[in-house]
Amino acid sequence: MKRPIKIAPSLLAADFSKLSDELRSVEEAGAEYLHLDVMDGMFVPNMSFGACVISSIRPHSKLFFDVHLMINDPIRYIDDFVAAGADGITIHYESCQDKEAALRAIRAHGKKAGISIKPSTPAFVLEPLLPLIDMILVMTVEPGFGGQSFMQQTMASVEAAHAMVTAGGYDVDIQVDGGITAATAPIPASFGANIFVAGSSVFRAEDRKTAVESIRIAAENAAI
Ligand code: DX5
Ligand code: ZN
Repeated sequence: MKRPIKIAPSLLAADFSKLSDELRSVEEAGAEYLHLDVMDGMFVPNMSFGACVISSIRPHSKLFFDVHLMINDPIRYIDDFVAAGADGITIHYESCQDKEAALRAIRAHGKKAGISIKPSTPAFVLEPLLPLIDMILVMTVEPGFGGQSFMQQTMASVEAAHAMVTAGGYDVDIQVDGGITAATAPIPASFGANIFVAGSSVFRAEDRKTAVESIRIAAENAAI
């Protein structure tokens, strides 16, 4: 059965001087999730924002807050991001020693647990973690910066993740993040992705509603 397609605009591409307006615009555009990229300048070269920004914007939005932690040892901060208002927290496979403990901690708070892999990490490493997760995030660019080009070679991971989830009968979403536009979204959709993070292609669009709708329609038409 096809999983519902969800669109997750990434706040990284928004105008940080007017965050509440930016949030409202993507909510009105019909997005389901707000993707929040947290970067520490260690796991990835760039820095972004942390729990205090998320907690400030939380009262301004009803969207599902999808927090993508690109930080070392994310287990240290799970309580903080839950308190800030995260609905789902995604950790990176490569930056977390005790992945099971981190995923269990997220779920213990009643939040959705996700795990992400960089383009060079094969999807099969996630198989033992499937019972502990609600979402796999396959990075379709090297994490760290918005505005990069979609990497076609990451589709092997989307395909492998979809095969593992389907074969095991798990209730797990597959998210893709990086270089997603209406032109590229059909590719991961055709390999089994159902949640589409889009930074530049939504926030830099003249008409955000049209941007969200066009990514959704493109993905729905190609979804398996
Ligand atoms: C990259 C981030 C992405 C980024 C996507 O490290 O995880 O969420 O904001 O931006 P675009 O859609 O512009 O590639
Ligand atoms: Zn992200």
